[in-house]
Amino acid sequence: MSASPFDWPEGGEVRALVAGDRRVVLVGAHPDDRALRRGAAAAARALLHAEQAIIALAGPVSAQVEGLVLGGYRSQHFGRGEFAPGATPVAVVTIVDPAADEEVVERAQVAARASLLARGLANAPSNLKNPAWMVERAQAVASRRGLEITVWDEEALAVAGFGGLLAVGGGSVSPPRLVRLDYRPEGASDAPFVVLVGKGITFDTGGISVKPADGMVSMRTDMSGSAIVLAVIDAVAALGLTIPVTVLMPLAENSFAEGSYRPSDIVTPYGGKRTVEITNTDAEGRMVLADALAYADLELEPDLLIDVATLTGAARIALARSMAALFSDDDELVGALREAGVAAGEPFWRLPLHDDYRSMIDSAVADLDQAPGKAGAITAALFLREFVGERRWAHLDVAGPGRSDDDTGLLSKGATGYGARALLRLLEGLT
Ligand code: BES
Ligand code: MN
Ligand code: ZN
Repeated sequence: MSASPFDWPEGGEVRALVAGDRRVVLVGAHPDDRALRRGAAAAARALLHAEQAIIALAGPVSAQVEGLVLGGYRSQHFGRGEFAPGATPVAVVTIVDPAADEEVVERAQVAARASLLARGLANAPSNLKNPAWMVERAQAVASRRGLEITVWDEEALAVAGFGGLLAVGGGSVSPPRLVRLDYRPEGASDAPFVVLVGKGITFDTGGISVKPADGMVSMRTDMSGSAIVLAVIDAVAALGLTIPVTVLMPLAENSFAEGSYRPSDIVTPYGGKRTVEITNTDAEGRMVLADALAYADLELEPDLLIDVATLTGAARIALARSMAALFSDDDELVGALREAGVAAGEPFWRLPLHDDYRSMIDSAVADLDQAPGKAGAITAALFLREFVGERRWAHLDVAGPGRSDDDTGLLSKGATGYGARALLRLLEGLT
């Protein structure tokens, strides 16, 4: 009898039989990547706290490993005297598969751990996680992987003219930072040079254009983009990929205070090519990204420039939780990103950089209106495009899938790190 997706469970249906201290967990999963990842994640969940597990599933081993690692993760719990994951995953897993290859297993673990690193950072509370703390996390990655690291503090940012970061970070007692990490492997002659930029708002109150209380609670994860690009370069170096990669993390806290930037301020991002009329201080992400994108364009000469950001509520409303918005004028880059997204189980959906809407970001008093309040996700992307020059560039808005409301499938409640595995896949495909 041939297997059709209609007579197999979608992946992740679990029945557990208990016999003494042994549990037999039966998992239904169609033998494709997507269903197997979910099936393995469900198995890991059913087996939390177990000392040992023997897994016998049919289908690609990499999907099984990713599912097991991701499904066995819970957001950290900050109980008294405790700073630990909320649950303990299976200690030892044996995968029964004659086709299992050591290298494939290792690669899958690195990919899944990239998601977990991004989640852990994004879930950390913002009284701990200010820009300086994120710098320390980046330094830890740099030293364990032998990456070059450059850090701009607020004085260096002022000297260099990073007007977006200084405006957004001006209201916080924790001043802004910019981090640059360089991975330069030997033998990467043919691979394109990729620069990854990640939004790094360690807390987003909305600033003077303050957010309503309900919408603010989740804003500790507004540095997910930075966490993702940090996790990606960590994984790239761990795998020793032969592709040069630079990561930029523009870090700031968007606070409501005396030093905060104001609606109607005129701000000049890095490079001085455009001035911006501030119309909503809650549109802070595009201001710090403008600095980093312009720096990449003007100083780094990347072949590919990609940013990832929890940028707009509009993208989240358009695509909800299980797809990220993708913007680019480069069809080839769009194709590569979409393919990588599907392969990694983190799909992207293309939205248009619609030229007819470009006039929406015109301002009467500056070169650009920061936040015209129309076509939210698209005008944000059009704004970013003003700072990338002629580079091949793509923008990923992960505001929707960047968070999960519960522990389900591959996800854990809170930040998801969505995009880390897809970007890793893309870079693997470019080597
Ligand atoms: N960090 C938010 C976007 C966001 C919203 C992410 C909900 C995740 C969940 C961003 O800084 C923001 O506030 N965007 C505004 C822009 C608006 C003022 C033009 C938005 O989307 O409402
Ligand atoms: Mn905001
Ligand atoms: Zn934000």
